[in-house]
Amino acid sequence: MIPTWIELPSLGDERGQLSVAEVGNHAPFDIRRVYWIYETEEGVVRGKHAHVELEQLAVVVAGSCKMRLDDGNSSVEFTMDSPRRALYIGPGMWREMSEFSSDCVLLVLASEVYQESDYIRDYEKFTK
Ligand code: TYD
Repeated sequence: MIPTWIELPSLGDERGQLSVAEVGNHAPFDIRRVYWIYETEEGVVRGKHAHVELEQLAVVVAGSCKMRLDDGNSSVEFTMDSPRRALYIGPGMWREMSEFSSDCVLLVLASEVYQESDYIRDYEKFTK
């Protein structure tokens, strides 16, 4: 599956906003891990790896950053700046996150627990 924005419900009322990502409705996989990236230093580029099987949904719950996704043939840069939509990232995508705002909190919902064996950290190996 190519990277896709998944619109999340904004259940706003006079008290403020609430968004939700639910398995089956918004996440096309069972969620087995959640992690979040925050307090990223200015100028830092994170990620620089691909996954063999892992599926993920990424959403900025605060602030903004860029997400560059590369399938080995072409790359697309997504601007992550809304807590109302999540980016689906399937297996076989080299990713680089950059331009984090100082208040950025990037939440990631993942289909598996952490397994270093699922990582490809060498770009040349990835393209092969
Ligand atoms: P890293 O893969 O470098 O993060 P990023 O891809 O965002 O740049 O992860 C930083 C450290 O955290 C590294 O030692 C691996 C560890 N880690 C876990 O233990 N569990 C996890 O779920 C994740 C995502 C990372």
